[in-house]
Amino acid sequence: MMALITKKPKGTEDVLPKDAYRWQFVENIFREEARAFGYQEIRTPVFEHTNLFERGVGSTTDVVQKEMYTFLTKGKDSITLRPEGTAGAARAIIEHGVFNDPLPIKAYYLVSCYRYEKPQSGRQREFHQFGMECYGSPSPSADAEMIIAARSIFDRLQLRNIRLEINSIGCKECRTEYHKALKEYFSSYKDELCDDCKDRLERNPMRLLDCKNPHDSELAKGAPVGLDYLCDECREHFESVKKYLTENGIDFTVNPKIVRGLDYYTKTVFEFISDDIGAQSTVLGGGRYDGLMEELGSKPMPALGFALGIERLLLTMDAQGIEIPAPSRCDIFIASLGENAAIKAHTLTNALRRSGIIAECDIVGRGLRAQMKYADKIDAKFSVVLGDDEIDKNKAKVKNMRSGEQTEISLSPDQFAEAFTSLKLANDFIGTKEG
Ligand code: HAM
Repeated sequence: MMALITKKPKGTEDVLPKDAYRWQFVENIFREEARAFGYQEIRTPVFEHTNLFERGVGSTTDVVQKEMYTFLTKGKDSITLRPEGTAGAARAIIEHGVFNDPLPIKAYYLVSCYRYEKPQSGRQREFHQFGMECYGSPSPSADAEMIIAARSIFDRLQLRNIRLEINSIGCKECRTEYHKALKEYFSSYKDELCDDCKDRLERNPMRLLDCKNPHDSELAKGAPVGLDYLCDECREHFESVKKYLTENGIDFTVNPKIVRGLDYYTKTVFEFISDDIGAQSTVLGGGRYDGLMEELGSKPMPALGFALGIERLLLTMDAQGIEIPAPSRCDIFIASLGENAAIKAHTLTNALRRSGIIAECDIVGRGLRAQMKYADKIDAKFSVVLGDDEIDKNKAKVKNMRSGEQTEISLSPDQFAEAFTSLKLANDFIGTKEG
């Protein structure tokens, strides 16, 4: 059956012109906070070689086993749309030798990601992440800084009730013991496990802990917890992270059940969870991944990071009634009557735009009355009508659309821009005084 051209693919969302300011608002805050923490932007391709994700994210994860958008190119290369931002950023840092720069290297990104999951509220097939990644520090102070950066974004957005849960899943060494314990525990239920988990039991028993099958996740509740198997170094590292967080006044709870769904994590893992958006409640997730860079071919290089789901963030803000201020669409509408006036309106509008004023005029061919109706609809703050008389006198009355107050201004573009800017500033000031 042919798909309808005017229907978007399942699990995707459009952001329409009238709503895009909400995205821009949060994106500006991400960028400002990233800059405050010393991060610079990294941009990587939307698709990568499939084996990057198989190696990086892990071949036993749901993401790699079930959710990737993978296809063969005409040249028969296996390509995958990125399911997350960490692997691509790591690949770029390695490929360009960025790790030779002074450490730590701090990179942030805003990316679209693709996972073939069953769509529901807060879970899409195309979604967007803001992420921060820090390369080159093994220190617990870096873990704490990363978590504090995440918290500061939520604080800037005035989010309430978004709780931080942390855990440590140890390093390669302590995980051997833990894997043994998990294998032992799950082996006694082997026949009850889903087929994927039977396979995971052999290859990576930790993945059984985040299986989405209801029966398996029930069994996982009684499984041994990783915190009991940490080696001395990992335990001390975790204790130190907690101390830094406490000293910085960051509230957290230790949740030994957090294991994260991707294979690269070591030591600290964390999630920020909102109870206001239903089942898909993890707004942000991250942690340390000290082995990934080496796994992908770099010299050993500790690293850590997080990614925040922008759709889930906006859902949480909506649920909490946090209003995002809509920016003004039009400072002044320059209406006109007759052809000469239309041309004057057109040139004046363009001149004002060069002075940073959001100016509009008629480009549809409407009559004066319809132009004024349109000015009203787009919520123009001011309007002015140009006719033969105004053009003769080179002056016109600018009307404040809210108060009706009129001020005469010269139509010479420079003078108009200057006078209008002061008029607008004075009105903005009155606006703020009125509240
Ligand atoms: P993740 O937990 O897979 O981690 O995803 C991070 C966030 O992306 C989630 O908390 C959620 O808000 C959002 N997200 C994930 N899947 C979907 C989906 N299908 N629909 C809507 N939102 C979704 C990572 O991706 C890691 N790369 C995070 C990281 C960075 N760890 C270290 N550095």
